Amino acid sequence: MFLWGTATAAYQIEGAVTEDGRGVSIWDTFAHEPGRTRDGHTGDMACDHYHSWREDVALMSGLGVNAYRFSIAWPRVQPLGTGPANTKGLDFYERLVDALLEAGIQPVPTLFHWDLPQALQDRGGWLNREVSEMFAEYAATVAHRLADRVPLWITLNEPFVHMAFGYAMGVHAPGEALLTGALPAAHHQLLAHGLAVRALRAAGVAQVAITNNCTPVWPASQREPDLRAAEAYDILHNRLFNDPILLGKYPDLSAYVPTLDVVRDGDLDVIATPLDALGINYYNPTRIAAPTSEGLPFTDAGITGYPTTAFGWPIVPDGLRELLTGLKARYGAALPPILITENGCSNDDTVTVDDQARIAFLEDHIAAMRQAMEEGVDVRGYFVWSLLDNFEWAEGYHQRFGLVHVDFATQRRIPKASYAWLKGFLERQNTDT
Ligand code: FCB
Repeated sequence: MFLWGTATAAYQIEGAVTEDGRGVSIWDTFAHEPGRTRDGHTGDMACDHYHSWREDVALMSGLGVNAYRFSIAWPRVQPLGTGPANTKGLDFYERLVDALLEAGIQPVPTLFHWDLPQALQDRGGWLNREVSEMFAEYAATVAHRLADRVPLWITLNEPFVHMAFGYAMGVHAPGEALLTGALPAAHHQLLAHGLAVRALRAAGVAQVAITNNCTPVWPASQREPDLRAAEAYDILHNRLFNDPILLGKYPDLSAYVPTLDVVRDGDLDVIATPLDALGINYYNPTRIAAPTSEGLPFTDAGITGYPTTAFGWPIVPDGLRELLTGLKARYGAALPPILITENGCSNDDTVTVDDQARIAFLEDHIAAMRQAMEEGVDVRGYFVWSLLDNFEWAEGYHQRFGLVHVDFATQRRIPKASYAWLKGFLERQNTDT
């Protein structure tokens, strides 16, 4: 069965940040620091999904999706990141999972979507190798409760973005701006992933995947410095996170950045533990030029000549086809089946829910995915980001990605035109097959 779903993440929708024993996450801390998020927005309330999850499951049921990708908040399960489980936190996810199953929707949990327990950040966060082992313990704890009902699990969401925005540039939690000093956060997340794959399987989980953010990299010109910078960017954004998982080795970083001296014997075997699927989040290609300042081996040259989303991201549906066929060309038989675990766009839907631009975006990207499938790429699922307008990290509530409009003052949900469109689209899939 091809999985058609919507995706969300805990901190972006749940709210209820102090309820039922939940611990503090790095996003609670970061969002409350002055100047970190646009207009000082926080996820304290978000979509209040912790209380309105029944309504949200009903919305998905009405939409006709057969899968739902959501994330589990580590600090709800282990408030301090390690130690005994907080039963009430696990109970929340169990209720959600059971309601989804009842509605005929396959739950697809992600164990880490950036909301690290603050207590672990106080011990260095992903710069500390021990956090990788703690993550595997946490994964096992959740799996012991839910593995009997949940077939497919995702370990991490976008370790690249978490490293780059959270540890290299300082624009996401935990707000570190270490530039290439952020690289250990890549290795420790990858190690955490590999250890978690093993822990999940030991706990009876049938299928495991990871979600990577990938981008086709376009050199700004065919001049040598731009080509070299584009290669560096491709390595840091794409290959650093796919090669070790799929090939059991790191790409050669030596020409661009300091060596990864945190890698120990045996780590790569753990990281390359076979997967059942590779999750891909696609938003847009990236155009790269030679560096203009010290510190990083590239510059983002920006893409012009395409329409853009409200976020200013270029809309390039064919980039999804390019990405998928490129992965197949690069990894061949080592590439597991692919799930598009996120794709979508922000629109200025503050006053209108007639989001025709989102409908066109989704239609064109689904067509590009199908083109890649015709070209031989094995894609098994597609998840729209996102079910609801939600807390878009540093942008706060300013970027609306939902199929469903949320009035954040009243928590009223109003399905947009794209919701009705997707519903009709999914009905047509069912009659066609
Ligand atoms: C991805 C994130 C997701 C959401 C979208 C717009 O990078 O995984 O949480 O913010 O971008």
